[in-house]
Amino acid sequence: MDPIIREVADLVVRWIHLIAGIMWIGNSMLWNWIDRNLVKPAPEAGKGEPNDKSFGHIWLLHSGAYYFMEKKLLQPSEYAAIPGGPHWFKWQAYTTWLSGASLLAIVYYMSGGGAYLVDPNVSKISADAAIDVGIGTVVGGFVVYDLVWRVLGRRSEKLATALTLALVAGVVTVLPRVLAGRAAYMHVGAMLGTMMAGNVFLHIMPSQRALVRATQEGSSGDATASAHAQQRSIHNNYLTFPMLFIMLSNHFPSTYGSKYPSLVLAVLIVTGSTVRHLLNVRFHFKRWLPALLSVITTAVVALFVLVGGREALGRGGPKKPAEKVAFSRVQLVIQDRCVPCHSQKPTDPSVQMAPGNVMFDTPEQIQTYKDRIKMRAVVAKTMPLANKTNMTEDERDLVGKWLLSGASIE
Ligand code: HEC
Repeated sequence: MDPIIREVADLVVRWIHLIAGIMWIGNSMLWNWIDRNLVKPAPEAGKGEPNDKSFGHIWLLHSGAYYFMEKKLLQPSEYAAIPGGPHWFKWQAYTTWLSGASLLAIVYYMSGGGAYLVDPNVSKISADAAIDVGIGTVVGGFVVYDLVWRVLGRRSEKLATALTLALVAGVVTVLPRVLAGRAAYMHVGAMLGTMMAGNVFLHIMPSQRALVRATQEGSSGDATASAHAQQRSIHNNYLTFPMLFIMLSNHFPSTYGSKYPSLVLAVLIVTGSTVRHLLNVRFHFKRWLPALLSVITTAVVALFVLVGGREALGRGGPKKPAEKVAFSRVQLVIQDRCVPCHSQKPTDPSVQMAPGNVMFDTPEQIQTYKDRIKMRAVVAKTMPLANKTNMTEDERDLVGKWLLSGASIE
């Protein structure tokens, strides 16, 4: 695809994806909060007609007035009296998924030669095979998860949970050894996102429809069906925080480009779900705040160590070189390996303008970006993209030494 068309498609679809995602996740957080904070009715209430049951109510303050909200079931006549029927949110999840799937294709499958998908330092897989692996992971991951819970969800929740964790752990372990780090992370996110949207489409929405039918017929509905939808809802709740990090992960080459991309992702997924859990139970778990702070502190320390933070503190990292590295040598390396893309006039056919508007045409530009050059080409080695310009380890070492010796451009 032409780089400019791709860029514009990326922009438009990403914008839609972000807005729909905010609406979906924001809404689900709000409902989750409301559900956990309802003022429960007195025990004798709701003993009349089958659909008189109230689950509780809540008063809310927003946009200059008070809202009274009650969670309850309805009699057929009450339901029929709602003009146009009740409003229910369904397009947010679908729009998020559809735009996300398109974005995955635009960024990873349509950029010629799998530039973002394949990294020769990771594996020698071809671009076509990498696309198959990517799609296979997203679809296969969802199918396995869904089957596990269809078969075991009611009989043995523990076993189903263990198998799901094993599935995610397996994908998190294997994918960064096959696809480029950034693509591996994003495909784990796409798999989790597909599980969430699939839960809405195949389980939560059908259960809402069943509830509407039951209300219209005046029956009390199928309690197992709604318990089953509730189970999927809880899964979605636990997946939100890990998923949100993964969606941002392309901003953090230090994570997917670290020496331990799988471990870093595992730490972030576990932290995200644990934080979500503690926020869920905070209404009845008194010590939630110290627990939350210890989880976050532990995660930050683990992350710092895993992304090479000790070296940044000068421990265990390369020593300052004895002699100064001549800038002319470094500039030659940058010229050969980076400038084909990062230039006012890029020569690489896959880029129309300098990616991220980062250019290395002059010594001053190189010096300005020295910290990012260190991160991308020396520490994480996620640049050159897919090592397209064949940068060698010696060259990375040379740039690293120049940075350590003060990064002078004299
Ligand atoms: C084949 C083209 C290509 C080459 C060659 C290339 N890059 Fe990049 N670079 C990109 C693309 C595409 C992006 C935007 C995506 C991303 O950030 O991963 C980017 C983004 C960047 C950024 C901005 C994002 C950030 O992390 O701050 C920096 C800095 C960077 N590259 C450094 C380098 C260095 C240093 C080299 C040479 C060692 C290099 N690049 C070689 C394509 C290239």
